[in-house]
Amino acid sequence: MSLDVIILAAGQGSRMKSKKPKVLHGIGGKPMVQHVIDCALELDAPRIHVVVGHGADQVREALGNQALKFALQAEQLGTGHAVAQALDGTEPSGISLVLYGDVPLTRSETLRQLVAIAAQDKLGLLTVKLADPSGYGRIIRNDADQVVAIVEHKDASEAQRAVDEVNTGILALPTRLLADWLPRLSSNNAQGEYYLTDVIAMAADQGVLIEAIQPEHEQEVQGVNNRQQQAELERWYQLREAQRLMHNGVTLLDPSRLDVRGNLSAGFDVVIDINCLFEGKVTLGNDVTIGPNCHISDAVIGDGCHIKANSVIEQATLQEGCDVGPFARLRPGTELAAGVKVGNFVETKKARIGEGSKVSHLSYIGDATIGSDVNVGAGTITCNYDGINKSQTEIGDGAFIGSNTALVAPVKVGMGATVGAGSTITRDVADDQLSVARGKQRNLDNWPRPTKRQD
Ligand code: UD1
Ligand code: CA
Repeated sequence: MSLDVIILAAGQGSRMKSKKPKVLHGIGGKPMVQHVIDCALELDAPRIHVVVGHGADQVREALGNQALKFALQAEQLGTGHAVAQALDGTEPSGISLVLYGDVPLTRSETLRQLVAIAAQDKLGLLTVKLADPSGYGRIIRNDADQVVAIVEHKDASEAQRAVDEVNTGILALPTRLLADWLPRLSSNNAQGEYYLTDVIAMAADQGVLIEAIQPEHEQEVQGVNNRQQQAELERWYQLREAQRLMHNGVTLLDPSRLDVRGNLSAGFDVVIDINCLFEGKVTLGNDVTIGPNCHISDAVIGDGCHIKANSVIEQATLQEGCDVGPFARLRPGTELAAGVKVGNFVETKKARIGEGSKVSHLSYIGDATIGSDVNVGAGTITCNYDGINKSQTEIGDGAFIGSNTALVAPVKVGMGATVGAGSTITRDVADDQLSVARGKQRNLDNWPRPTKRQD
């Protein structure tokens, strides 16, 4: 059965108090409407329609290169009118599933049930019982408990308003029925809008069965109208991410103090301490330990690595058994081979560091290639920038760089070479050489220190 997913995203969202269209605001670092699109993709929908209106250009641009069909709803005349804008591109013999760009966290399992109902020539409706149903469309059932209509809050009688089962807005139905009913909607109601919800009464009139199901979690059908609701859904989303990780064998010292904005995957026996933030695509191997307050984005961290507290890692690759931090900053293009140690207050950028090498304290290593088993002493700086150009530093296997060395790039230090502490190295050092480049120490005997003048 061919599925058309129609995502309504034309509303303004004025309660967000934002220059940005509401559906582009994020949950878990991803625009709400993208969550809905990703869910549609999980259903293998061959066609995904996005109805845009307010901020249409911004929404189109933000959604970029995806196989989406955009339909413009120039004027927001109601949800029925919005769906009608997408009808042209649908497959009449298939099923239409209506979703909302500001209801981001519906599970595909729930939607699959609705689509299965529609595949039996019925209308599948997602409803929910709310302690406070005010504002929502109410589900009206007959004596046989069958759904016969949806009445919007503003159009409802006192008795109807007492109903606590409400319309989530999400429904699935055979497209030929939708195409038949949409032109028959009228705007003769309290809001002067073409209500999609009026198709329910049409279905009931025509003897089309309506089957209402409920989501497993209320948050699945929660819409976002303001930043408080956004924050509430964000928390729920993060809790689910935490649960997913724990199910996959990750220990979280506090599942309520983890944030994942992107895709985090982890092997077995990973331990993540509190207040860590993962962004983009992050892959953790087996037995990785992440200390508290780490911020890790777009990184691959190999088996057995230990990232200590307050480290920031971005676009970096770490082979197995590396030891990083506390307070380390690995910037884009950092590649650590197995068993590398990068200690506290060390910054790296476009740096390849070979197996077993150590940069233990207070250093800047940028635009550099360091071999294996190199020891870089505390306070070493690669001077990679002359104000115009970036230049490379190369250090061979087994070299020893004394503390407080400035390596003025471009420069090479050979294999097994030794650089004395406090050196400013401006010329290459050959293999196995010792290079010392600092002011010579003079010791003067019995040096008379200046004394205070007596007036
Ligand atoms: C709608 C339902 C109501 C349901 C509620 C759930 C109708 C008539 N009512 O009411 O039964 O309980 O959602 O939240 O459908 N939109 C457009 N174009 C329009 C109008 C709306 O794209 O012309 C989009 C909005 O951006 C929004 C969604 O459709 O994402 C719902 O619109 P909204 O005006 O919020 O509908 P409600 O009055 O809340
Ligand atoms: Ca709404």
